[in-house]
Amino acid sequence: MDTKLLFQDAAGLATPMLAVFAVDVSIGKDADPLVALLTTSDAVSNAAAQVLATGEFQATAGEQLLLHKPDNVKAERLLVVGLGKAKSLSVEAVRKGAATAARFGKPRGIREIAIAFPEDFALDDEHMESLPAGLLSRAIMEGALVAEVDYDTYRSDRKDRSVDSLTLVARESEESTRKEIQNGYDEGVIVGGAQNFARALVNEPGNVLTPEELGKRAKAMCDEAGLKCEVHSTEKLLELGMGAFHAVAKGSALPPALIVMTYEPKLEKGKTLAKDAPVIGLVGKGITFDTGGISIKPADGMEKMKYDMAGAAAMIGAMRAIAQLKPAARVISVVCSAENMPSGTAYKPGDVLTAMSGKTIEVMNTDAEGRLVLADGLHYAKQLGATQLIDAATLTGACVVALGVNNAGLFSNDEATCEAFQVAMRRSGESFWRLPCTDDYKEYIKSSIADIMNTGMNRWGGAISGAMFLKEFVGETPWIHLDIAGMAWVENQRSYIAKGPSGVAVRSIVEWVRELSPKP
Ligand code: BES
Ligand code: ZN
Ligand code: ZN
Repeated sequence: MDTKLLFQDAAGLATPMLAVFAVDVSIGKDADPLVALLTTSDAVSNAAAQVLATGEFQATAGEQLLLHKPDNVKAERLLVVGLGKAKSLSVEAVRKGAATAARFGKPRGIREIAIAFPEDFALDDEHMESLPAGLLSRAIMEGALVAEVDYDTYRSDRKDRSVDSLTLVARESEESTRKEIQNGYDEGVIVGGAQNFARALVNEPGNVLTPEELGKRAKAMCDEAGLKCEVHSTEKLLELGMGAFHAVAKGSALPPALIVMTYEPKLEKGKTLAKDAPVIGLVGKGITFDTGGISIKPADGMEKMKYDMAGAAAMIGAMRAIAQLKPAARVISVVCSAENMPSGTAYKPGDVLTAMSGKTIEVMNTDAEGRLVLADGLHYAKQLGATQLIDAATLTGACVVALGVNNAGLFSNDEATCEAFQVAMRRSGESFWRLPCTDDYKEYIKSSIADIMNTGMNRWGGAISGAMFLKEFVGETPWIHLDIAGMAWVENQRSYIAKGPSGVAVRSIVEWVRELSPKP
């Protein structure tokens, strides 16, 4: 999709469809809705005034109203998109609004759309502080780009109903605000593109996206983006002593892939990175298909386990954005990719493995394979120099039981890192909910014959047991674990996103990296 940013009165833009946002400015629970358009264009407001006066459109979040041939507006259609109550307006509501506008055009064959940048909020200054222009333009681009994609690649009867062109039109005349809008727009295009890149990987079936293929795609992305990338296989796992990762991989006829991507910041001449500058390690679970192994999963729903590499995809997507956004910190990403299969060479319950760190692990269940590959991935990232770690993984069904599909799980051993992640979340609009992984849970993963075991001692707190296991391999390094099992796949189509891979965590990880990076 081509994108453009224009600074002019939206009414003067000739386009098949112009979308404008609307909020309900009424105050009090029982008051009738009072709709206001977020535009400074009188022509646009006037064109919609008559319909809005009927009270039929109430500007609830996601509500849409389409006007054809609006008076004194050059657009062929005017789409009004509701964002809900003005007093609770957030950047996330605007992101979803832009996404709704982009998806509205698709089934109607509207291939070019324009979105009016929200202006004239009639909100108090304090509220406006939470709606900075740069974040708004960024959210609009992210929302629209992510919304535009449908996962019909494998349908032979698919109708190509993509939106070819998206224009963001802002009237803003203040130079500094224009700059903010421009920067946000640029970032939104990068981050939205990275999220879609991750989603496309997750969408691929297990027979296409094997560990080797994931390595190839990561390498191709890195070559294009200017990142260093090495893809290793079994030999390297054995050489490094990755006994946990290798155990998972050896049940499959397909070789594993250990993908290492590196971003080096380019500094101005004569400048060097401070000695205490962080080196950020991104570690992803890349199980291209999880059958459960010898502890095999039930057939019902097993097809979904092709998305067990969503954590890996998030990291690969994040690296793509990082290469383009160029933060001033080194970033290393380690992706551990394998297929978890039952076979004559598969690892078994009862096996004792020695991880790269030297810790011994009793295998209680071969379906708890994600933590095994990550154990070695986290340790390796540290060995490569990471001073800050984050991992993303579709790790446990228990996390989905705990948080449903509205929040992913967040675990950490470090308050400052967590605070940086909270800032990142506010910018990304993604929802993670912190769960504990304090040392009093350590007994959950105590083994009777090895240092630790790969499941909890009972059913309770399964997501925490997973996190406690990973914590064993990060040591003192500040670390965040994101359990995205419930969020990696959108089960129900929404007005703002297609059913299928969500690309969750890409945006927050990118923001977290930027938050931790030294500022110019
Ligand atoms: N890949 C699964 C977790 C998962 C579940 C991802 C649902 C996406 C949706 C993981 O490898 C797994 O099977 N975990 C087990 C752990 C258990 C054996 C301790 C689980 O959650 O049941
Ligand atoms: Zn599993
Ligand atoms: Zn898994």
